[in-house]
Amino acid sequence: MPVNSEIAASRDVWAACQFIREQTDRVPEWALVLGSGLGSLADDVDEPLVFSSDQLPGYPASTVPGHQGRLVFGKMEGREVVFVQGRVHQYEGHQPRRITFPIRLVHALGARRVLLTNAAGGIRYGFRPGMLMLIEDHINGAFCNPLSGPNEGPGPRFPDMSAPYDPEWISRVEDLALKLEIPLRKGTYWWTLGPSYETPAEIRAFRHLGADAVGMSTVPETLQAVALGMQVLGISTITNLGSGMGHEMLDHDDVLKVGQHVRNDLQRLLRAIVRD
Ligand code: HPA
Repeated sequence: MPVNSEIAASRDVWAACQFIREQTDRVPEWALVLGSGLGSLADDVDEPLVFSSDQLPGYPASTVPGHQGRLVFGKMEGREVVFVQGRVHQYEGHQPRRITFPIRLVHALGARRVLLTNAAGGIRYGFRPGMLMLIEDHINGAFCNPLSGPNEGPGPRFPDMSAPYDPEWISRVEDLALKLEIPLRKGTYWWTLGPSYETPAEIRAFRHLGADAVGMSTVPETLQAVALGMQVLGISTITNLGSGMGHEMLDHDDVLKVGQHVRNDLQRLLRAIVRD
């Protein structure tokens, strides 16, 4: 498949895209970015083709347990998808723009829809570990932006963010969840830089400011994907109560464990979304 002009606009993904194109001309319709503890959702795709991120020139290294550092092409419900099992975060020391490398790469490979999943702490009263929350909107609480710096395109300099998570798509997914009897909440996600968890006072402040859940990812990917004109959907797995809301201390192992627990519901929902 020829490398198109949009790829040249995002020069740092060009070599990785070229490397993949030398092995396959599969064009993913969908990209699914897998959050902490959710990596195994890619395990049962048909016709898998796996690239380890260290094979891909320029791909930032993922250093977090629960993020395998792989790009997996596959078929799901008969559609070409690509799973990003190698999410990277700013707290690993990457510059904001580097975090969006996988998004720019899957866009260059042809994906125009992206489904972002993550593990998040529940802030809204009534949220419990194991619940799923469709991201309706977000707050960039990290106050930095992966789109800063020279605008290499193809997106606009000042992308609109009035509906980053496609409202029509959100209502379709709510209908699907209802049919599948999968409980699904809807809410606003707050992005923090991490890596420390929040203090109880921070959680109270975020709640007052309109957040329902908090996590250390997703927002930079959304900003980049929207700027590229992609359709975005976000689903958070609530893995714990926000700091100070429960009795336990927060621990990444617990976050991974709950991620595994709701995997089945999430997997059924993802399949239904792709089929739909
Ligand atoms: N805070 C921030 N990020 C998280 C949390 C949390 O409580 N849980 C999972 N990711």
